[in-house]
Amino acid sequence: MLIENIILKNFRNYEYQEISPKKGINIIYGRNAQGKTNILESIFLSSTARSHRTNKDTDLIRNLQQGYFIKIEGKRDEEPFSIDINCTKITSRSNKRIIKVNDISLTRTGQLMGVLNSVMFSPEDLTVIKEGPSERRRFLDILISQINPSYFYALQEYFKIIKQKNALLKSVYEGGKNRDLIEIYNLKQAKTGSKIIKERKIFIEQINMKSKQNHYDITKGIENLDIRYDCDIPDYSGDENDFYKAIDKIKDKEIRVQSSILGPHRDDIEILLDGMNIRDYGSQGQQRTAILSLKFAEMQIIKEKTGKKPVLLLDDALSELDLLRKRTLLDKIDTNQTFITCTEKRKYMTLDDNISFYFVNKGTVKSI
Ligand SMILES: Nc1ncnc2c1ncn2[C@@H]1O[C@H](COP(=O)(O)OP(=O)(O)OP(=O)(O)O)[C@@H](O)[C@H]1O
Ligand SMILES: [Mg+2]
Repeated sequence: MLIENIILKNFRNYEYQEISPKKGINIIYGRNAQGKTNILESIFLSSTARSHRTNKDTDLIRNLQQGYFIKIEGKRDEEPFSIDINCTKITSRSNKRIIKVNDISLTRTGQLMGVLNSVMFSPEDLTVIKEGPSERRRFLDILISQINPSYFYALQEYFKIIKQKNALLKSVYEGGKNRDLIEIYNLKQAKTGSKIIKERKIFIEQINMKSKQNHYDITKGIENLDIRYDCDIPDYSGDENDFYKAIDKIKDKEIRVQSSILGPHRDDIEILLDGMNIRDYGSQGQQRTAILSLKFAEMQIIKEKTGKKPVLLLDDALSELDLLRKRTLLDKIDTNQTFITCTEKRKYMTLDDNISFYFVNKGTVKSI
């Protein structure tokens, strides 16, 4: 996977910018708040159709403008590809987004998955450890969607079912009618929900094996990392009938609280360090290292599944690590192309590293 050209128009603090990244390591450096992360964000967005730091597309539109445009051109193996994202404001809160791949408009966002594979590490990723389960589910969902578009569709379907079921629970609670309809939604929820849990479990098993090894390497065998899927459905072996029985049992409670309270939208991932929950037990450095081990595992899995090395995006990722850990990590990077943001040109790079430098200053980028 190789990005050869990026065009940003009215995206974040960029009015108009063209960047031509190179193979190897691209260091994007500059003072704080100049637009370094914004570049990585535009790449991640073109890869996953989501920003890593906001769910609101309007945040991405340059202040006082009516829309943004991103174009990314590159190669998958030797085959050229292009991705265009054109977003236009409709009202102050809503917008219309058109995504094109090789100049053809996509009819579903899912079609973008896998066109440009990327793995991002950003300070926000620490929320996977520090925050609640929804951050961990989001991490997992973005990742599985990238390598398995049918998972992305199943998720969309599942959330639609939950939304409709919740509306129904509310109306049953308020009016007492249509109670028998809940059964239909429960059947649908159990069917699609089972698919999601199954995929997540398979995936967690793979990522656990790999991140455990990565963590072992980075810590020179001192720490043991373990990741497990934590499913709340009692006695659930993966059979959708068991899922159905479990939600059928709590029907009255769900009506009372007017919400679907069991299923993959409530599950969690446990991240354990030496058998203890890393969130309460791990130091800053241990948490950072664990996330990096996880991210490298993500990269290895994408490579295995797609046969392509993803583009690696490291936003401020190495800043708190000591020299040895930085070097170990850089040596572990096995990509065609990596983007690293930092506030100054790095001293720990040797001349063997295949590096290009870009200086960012107030929304303009200069190749140095
Ligand atoms: N929609 C927008 N319109 C205009 N400017 C924006 C918009 N969104 C963000 N910005 C500006 O972009 C800048 C931040 O960009 P970015 O997050 O890329 O900084 P950075 O160079 O990565 O800084 P740091 O080193 O602190 O991480 C800020 O000055 C912010 O005000
Ligand atoms: Mg930044």
